Amino acid sequence: MNGNLKLALQKKGRLTEKSLELLNLCGLDIENYSERLVVSARNFPIDILFLRDDDIPEYVQDGVVDIGIVGENVIYEKQSGTEVLEKLGFGRCSLMFAYPEKNELQKIEDINGKTIATTYPHILKEYLTKNNLKAKVIELSGSVEIAPSLGVADLICDIVSTGNTLMMNKLKKSFKVFDSEAVLISAEKILKDSKLNEILNDLLRRIRSVKTAHSSKYLMMNIPKNSLEKILKIIPSLKSPTVLHLAEENMLAVHAVIPSDKFWQIVNDLKIAGASGILLLPIDNMIQ
Ligand code: PRP
Ligand code: ZN
Repeated sequence: MNGNLKLALQKKGRLTEKSLELLNLCGLDIENYSERLVVSARNFPIDILFLRDDDIPEYVQDGVVDIGIVGENVIYEKQSGTEVLEKLGFGRCSLMFAYPEKNELQKIEDINGKTIATTYPHILKEYLTKNNLKAKVIELSGSVEIAPSLGVADLICDIVSTGNTLMMNKLKKSFKVFDSEAVLISAEKILKDSKLNEILNDLLRRIRSVKTAHSSKYLMMNIPKNSLEKILKIIPSLKSPTVLHLAEENMLAVHAVIPSDKFWQIVNDLKIAGASGILLLPIDNMIQ
C-alpha cells in the first residue's frame, strides 16, 4: 500500500492507446509501460494496472483496484456492482447481430430458431427475452466471427467498431443490440479513504476539462469592421467572443471558442460575411 490510487486499464486492445492518451492529456507523466503489469505516474499519485478488459469490472468491484477504464459492453455483460463515474467519449462501438453475406436478415423475428454465437451471452439473452425471441445462444470466449464459417452458428452477436473484422470474415452487420463507449468506473461503495477520494476528484476534474476542451476549438479570423454584427450572429460561441483592433483601420480580429463539429458548417458563412485569415486551433485543456 503506497497510498496511490489504483487504476485498471485494458492490457492490449481497442481501449489501451486511447486510455493512455487521455491520461497524458490530463498531465500524467506515465513511465514506459510496455510489457509491465503495473506502472506509476511520475507526477501524480496513481498506479496503473494493465489487465484483461473482461476482468476489470470484477477487480474494481472487489477493491483490487479503485477505479478502471472499460467499455460499457463489458460492464453490462459482467453485471458487476460498479458505478459509472464518467463517460469518456472514445472506444465507441455497438453490439450487433451479423450474418454471413449470402444470407439476409429482413426483420428481427427472422432470428427465431437460429443459433447465435457470442461472447455476450448475458446481454444477448436479456435482449431475446425482452423482444420475445427464441434462439439458441452459443457462448464463446473469443473469435466469434469465425463461428458461421465453421458451421457452429447461423449468425453472431458481437462488438462492431470499424466493421473491419466483419468485412474480413464476409459477415454483414444487421440489427443493433446496444451502443457502447469507454467509461471510468469505481466500486459502488465509493472509496471510503478520503486521501484516495481527493486524488480521484483531482483526476476527474482533469478528465472533464480534457473532454470539454476536445469538443471545442479556438477560432481566430480577421473581419471588416462593418461585418462584425453579421459575423457574431454566425458564431455559436460558448462565451462572448473577443474582438480586437488591428493596425489596419477598417479591420478587426475576432477570437472565439466554438464546438469542433460546427466549424465546417459555419466556415462558408464566415467567408461570405467577409472573414479572412481563418485559423482553427486545438485546445488542450479548458477549466470551467
Ligand atoms: C471486438 C470484436 C471484434 C472487434 C471488432 O473485440 O470482438 O474482434 O472488436 O472491431 P472492428 O469492427 O473495428 O473490426 P474487442 O476489441 O472488444 O476485444 P476483446 O473481445 O478481445 O475484448
Ligand atoms: Zn475483452
